[in-house]
Amino acid sequence: MVNVKNIVMLGFGDMGKGIAQVCLMAGYSVTAVDISDDLIQKGLEYIKTGFEKLESKAKLPEGSGAKDFLVKLKTSKDLIEVVKDADLVIEAVVEKLDVKQKLCKDVIENSPDHCIFASNTSTMSITEIAENCSKPENVIGMHFFNPAPLMRLIEVIRGDKTSDESMNIGIEVSKSLPCLRGERYVARVLKDRPGFIVNRVLSPGSIYINHIIDLAYEKGIPWEQVDADLSGENAPMSTLTLSDFTGRDIAYHGQLYYSEKLSPDYKPGKVLTMQMEQGDLGKKAGKGFYDWSKGRPQPDLSKKAGIVNREIFVAINANEGCRILEEGVVTSWKVIDDSILAGMNFPGPMEYASKNFKRLTVLLEETSEKLGKSYLKPCDLFKSGKFVDMV
Ligand SMILES: NC(=O)c1ccc[n+]([C@@H]2O[C@H](COP(=O)([O-])OP(=O)(O)OC[C@H]3O[C@@H](n4cnc5c(N)ncnc54)[C@H](O)[C@@H]3O)[C@@H](O)[C@H]2O)c1
Repeated sequence: MVNVKNIVMLGFGDMGKGIAQVCLMAGYSVTAVDISDDLIQKGLEYIKTGFEKLESKAKLPEGSGAKDFLVKLKTSKDLIEVVKDADLVIEAVVEKLDVKQKLCKDVIENSPDHCIFASNTSTMSITEIAENCSKPENVIGMHFFNPAPLMRLIEVIRGDKTSDESMNIGIEVSKSLPCLRGERYVARVLKDRPGFIVNRVLSPGSIYINHIIDLAYEKGIPWEQVDADLSGENAPMSTLTLSDFTGRDIAYHGQLYYSEKLSPDYKPGKVLTMQMEQGDLGKKAGKGFYDWSKGRPQPDLSKKAGIVNREIFVAINANEGCRILEEGVVTSWKVIDDSILAGMNFPGPMEYASKNFKRLTVLLEETSEKLGKSYLKPCDLFKSGKFVDMV
């Protein structure tokens, strides 16, 4: 197997700088490439501050200081030049298929034969990204969670033409990357299907959320009360605050994507569409569900609307977990639960469903009927309970 030493981090934005930091922490030489001088500068500052903090908290290996790691970091704007001796290129540029396809082709054409191109895409098909390049066997997905130094999960994804060797190298490198909050968890994604593991399993919850939000709007129920229904007790941010924080446009585009790839039932709801049209995109626009003009809102969650059944989310997510088991994305429900815990910091739905699938099957039938959304019907693997043994 190829011994990876030189990593090129392509795209030095939010994700790229975090990924570059963990690669440096593992001892790799990293060259960060971006088209923006400003973002290169910001990335360098982020990593420098990160290592200095680790040094001041004595969290670096004994006998080493921030400088020992920073000396292995270079930056460049010339991709073609720097990939000449790259063993692995991790791409985290804008989420646009044509941009990623072009970069994949450029990297594969100009790098050594063994060089692997790994995409950090959240939604796109690895097979499609590799489509125009001459060595699709060298292309994998390496999907990190934000921020990469803190979130334990990396999903390593096999495209339709990816070789075993490339997958194994992707897994080995991923396992070697430290995590500042607990032990790194690497999930092997065996089929290139929309959303991979975590995003996919959680995705159909949006169908139920759209229903709740639209219902609350029609009935004039204040968002704070709906938010009180939706939010977990110990969550660092309430559900609707988080949704504003991430951006309503991200939710909108995600739902459109799944509505094209999986089912029209994902189509954005009335309120979400209205928020897009009015530009109420959340934090970045100063307004979403809440007013952000004076900083982060502090919703009063003391009163609930009483229109949400939280168990429905568990049922919907576990049902989707069974769909990816049916599709062969993973072969064990434990991997789904472990991935969600490592990527999102909350427990996955599968263990609970394995003990309650009969009751949850009835709940899914009722919910699908009530909402008029056939995608929420229990799939065969779920209702038969045969997934229980796929541990
Ligand atoms: N932000 C997240 O939470 C998150 C999580 C997982 C995966 N992702 C994925 O990671 C990727 C990057 O997301 P981000 O949030 O870091 O975006 P970002 O906008 O913060 O960073 C993208 C960077 O890519 C650079 N770039 C654009 N075109 C380039 C090119 N041709 N060559 C070199 N650099 C180029 C930009 O200048 C920018 O610095 C996307 O594919 C996204 O879907 C994001």
